[in-house]
Amino acid sequence: MMRIPFIAGNWKMHKTVEEAIALAQELRAELEDVEGCDVAVCPPFTALVSVRRALEGSAIGLGAQNVHWEEQGAFTGAISPPMLKDLCDYVIIGHSERRTIFGETDEWVNKKLHAALAHGLKPILCVGENLEQNQAGETEEFVGGQVRAALEGITAGQMRVITLAYEPIWAIGTGVPATGEGANEIIGGVVRHTLAVLYSDDVAQTVRIQYGGSVKPHNIAEFMSQPEIDGALVGGASLKADSFAAIVKNGLQAKRG
Ligand code: PGA
Repeated sequence: MMRIPFIAGNWKMHKTVEEAIALAQELRAELEDVEGCDVAVCPPFTALVSVRRALEGSAIGLGAQNVHWEEQGAFTGAISPPMLKDLCDYVIIGHSERRTIFGETDEWVNKKLHAALAHGLKPILCVGENLEQNQAGETEEFVGGQVRAALEGITAGQMRVITLAYEPIWAIGTGVPATGEGANEIIGGVVRHTLAVLYSDDVAQTVRIQYGGSVKPHNIAEFMSQPEIDGALVGGASLKADSFAAIVKNGLQAKRG
């Protein structure tokens, strides 16, 4: 089973519209010749329209960083799936910053997943344990539980458009990534295993699972050379065209062996 590598950049709360356009144009030039890998960028909502225009005709996909589950209504500050569906391909759901800073629960994550899928958006579902849980040996139970809760009511067919991202919270933005082997173990032994239990081996083997947390040009190969890891969700290092392009290129090379 060949899973196509998928590397996405999460720009978080960075880049004005002007800066976002400039980054998108640089990326477009840097990544022109890359084949055999899905690449996407997730700018802030305010830059989606402009970045979409800047990337038109290129192979780089576009994603949003969050979505609400309702189609419309009195939800000040929120963005709905119909507002995004003609604008982008992907949407990040359940990022740990949404969960910890903004109080998003597993139930919300599940509702968002259903809503995004209903409107043809491709979710990137994030899971991952914090440092305390990691040190207490609770990673497997916690991450497995997050996967099960998020996927409540999601069908095997729907799983084919979902990407998962295992992002240990202690590795995000800290400069201290997981090891390739450690991430591979959780991604294979917990995330993919949970999919096999919930659905089937076939589904588990088809779904793409990214690693995220302090991925850089110099360490991407360590992750991509692992059999269970299909890509990366990149924060800080996706904010510069040369480093994100190097991550894509080094990662693809490592995956090809
Ligand atoms: P980082 O962020 O690469 O800056 O650690 C990753 C993420 O939050 O997706």
